[in-house]
Amino acid sequence: MPGESAVGYLAERHGTTVSCAVVPLELDELGEGEVLVAVEWSSVNYKDALATRPDGGVARLDRLVLGIDLAGTVLESSSPEHRPGEAVLVHGYGLGVSHHGGFATHARVPASWVVGLPAGLTAREAMILGTAGFTAALSVVRLQHHGIGPSDGPVLVTGATGGVGSFSVAMLSLLGFEVVASTGKEDAAGWLGALGASSVIGREELSRPGRPLEAQRYAGAVDCVGGSTLGGVLRTLSWGGAVAASGVTGGAELVTTVFPFILRAVSLLGVDSTQTSLEERAATWERIATELRPADLETFVAGEIGLGALGPVLDRLLAGGARGRYLVRPG
Ligand SMILES: NC(=O)c1ccc[n+]([C@@H]2O[C@H](COP(=O)([O-])OP(=O)(O)OC[C@H]3O[C@@H](n4cnc5c(N)ncnc54)[C@H](OP(=O)(O)O)[C@@H]3O)[C@@H](O)[C@H]2O)c1
Repeated sequence: MPGESAVGYLAERHGTTVSCAVVPLELDELGEGEVLVAVEWSSVNYKDALATRPDGGVARLDRLVLGIDLAGTVLESSSPEHRPGEAVLVHGYGLGVSHHGGFATHARVPASWVVGLPAGLTAREAMILGTAGFTAALSVVRLQHHGIGPSDGPVLVTGATGGVGSFSVAMLSLLGFEVVASTGKEDAAGWLGALGASSVIGREELSRPGRPLEAQRYAGAVDCVGGSTLGGVLRTLSWGGAVAASGVTGGAELVTTVFPFILRAVSLLGVDSTQTSLEERAATWERIATELRPADLETFVAGEIGLGALGPVLDRLLAGGARGRYLVRPG
């Protein structure tokens, strides 16, 4: 693309601090890869917020364009798998971690990271869902593969107003589950009810210290909070139940005993979206575009921002204050 240049949201580490700014970039600075994408939309995920922190444990480059997901159009490709003009999405692997990410007008990525946009989703809709929607879908599918169905009893979703949480509420409800949503936001019950939650409980109900085993309440759970909350989930799952665990917003420590596992045959199912194979990605996105697609994706949009407005939004996510999803329009 002679004469074309890019703009991106760059996080730069200087010793023990990280500074972030919107900067011009040359296309040959974007990293290795066979596919050059004109980024139309990206989205803000908790991991992007962690990447702005010196102790966040996410950024693997001292100069990193942030953004762990993107959707757009192929501009150039030296891979036979992708052609200019193709609508694509990319998330996970090293994107926004060890390779420049989606908070930029352009991204150059390995062909092996690129998924064709599924029929029925626009680039904007794909990024309303983004990594959060994909992780919610993986979590829901893990519970289904464990054999948990709507007739087994209520399922619990923690961090319910966040990205992973809110899509999990909506997708489980679409599948016919009775969904109990756990949130730290007192005013969120109406919004969560509209997404499909049957009832709402306060965050502290799970995170406060409890007996090793409590009343059996939930057939399954999607947890993106971790910490003492995940301990609370394990204590309240029914015999044979399972929790699909993906996150750390409540802490990386897991305080539990072995009793949920050895007296109630409970399973802890780990969910990692980043290394999911390309085949599983494509199949999961097909499901997201059809049977798992929430009826009104616009309900999830907390805001639509340009690169210059990312700073305060990233801070809001770190503080646990976001409800739904922030879309990023880099151009
Ligand atoms: N394993 C994977 O592949 C994968 C993929 C995507 C995301 N994740 C992880 O999943 C988590 C959620 O990601 P996201 O993008 O959905 O984040 P998000 O949109 O910022 O949502 C996180 C939610 O967690 C809850 N929360 C925040 N601080 C909390 C605290 N101190 N204690 C308990 N709950 C708290 C809040 O919901 P309420 O106020 O409603 O409680 C918040 O909205 C993150 O840890 C992220 O890194 C992992």
